[in-house]
Amino acid sequence: MSTRNEVLKLLESHRGEPVSGGFMANKLGVSRNSVWKAVKKLREEGYSITGGSGVGYALEDDDILSAEGIASCYSGADGDSPELEIACHQSIDSTNKEAKRLALGDPKTPLLIVADEQTGGSGRNGRSFWSPPGSGLYMSFLLRPDFDLGKAQLLTTAASVAVCEAVREVAGKDCGIKWVNDVYLDGKKICGILTEAVTDFESGGIQFVIVGIGINCHPAGFPDDIKDRAGFIGGDFSRNALAAGIAKSFIPMTQDIENKSIIERYRDLSFVPGHDVTITRIGSDKKTRAHAKGIADNGGLIVEYEDGTTSVLTSGEISIRL
Ligand code: BTN
Repeated sequence: MSTRNEVLKLLESHRGEPVSGGFMANKLGVSRNSVWKAVKKLREEGYSITGGSGVGYALEDDDILSAEGIASCYSGADGDSPELEIACHQSIDSTNKEAKRLALGDPKTPLLIVADEQTGGSGRNGRSFWSPPGSGLYMSFLLRPDFDLGKAQLLTTAASVAVCEAVREVAGKDCGIKWVNDVYLDGKKICGILTEAVTDFESGGIQFVIVGIGINCHPAGFPDDIKDRAGFIGGDFSRNALAAGIAKSFIPMTQDIENKSIIERYRDLSFVPGHDVTITRIGSDKKTRAHAKGIADNGGLIVEYEDGTTSVLTSGEISIRL
């Protein structure tokens, strides 16, 4: 790791408190001058670091996304979180696309790819996902699951639970899940999730699963086509802490995906059951009316049609009829 990254990691782990240049130099086995140069570089990059060589350096409360910032919140004081590789980009086409590119090699997994901005973010059903800089959190987990595609759908379920739990912990706000995997706050969508699989051409089995999560964190001028539906978390919190909070909740769930507590937490957070809904199947304009009765153990939506028959939806989109 470069001295810049090591210094940032140390400052992150003492955020808001002064850390002396001598202490960092000793800890990293480098000269004080190297520490000073690393601090200068970080300041040039936009980090707000107060103090100087005599009084110690303190990283102030800014909201710059970094792998070091996420790693320091992820391991925290207990240090007992499962291993996680983290890569952070200022700007990238799409974190899901980057995960697919990395999957062509032999990546260390689980891997979390995070970006401050996406220039070609993808949403569900071939839509694009608006991903401006400075206000959102765009992240993809690249996982190598040892279960089949059916169970892999539960990863999306787990991811929406992880987002709600992390938003509550880090930003103090209570979100809800709109089946299948949109997270809402105060009636507006603040997060979408896109899960994709990379299959092995020969065996047809899943090689990797990519779980992409896009969250609107802070106010941004939403484009006209989404401004009535889109919301943001708001308030004073760090996106590094939110990314780490999601990973802390999500990664253990991926290692025990059949644990019933995941679906129970999903049910508690789901606000669709109990409502009349209109269902649109993927690739079709046909709309069907039904009543949402509950969430099945596989994460599907249990619906009752107007003719009294029931079924469990595992894909498609629904809107709530008021
Ligand atoms: C949706 O609501 O349609 C799903 C949106 C998923 C967006 C995220 S942002 C991070 C990851 N990279 C992408 O290109 N898409 C997902």
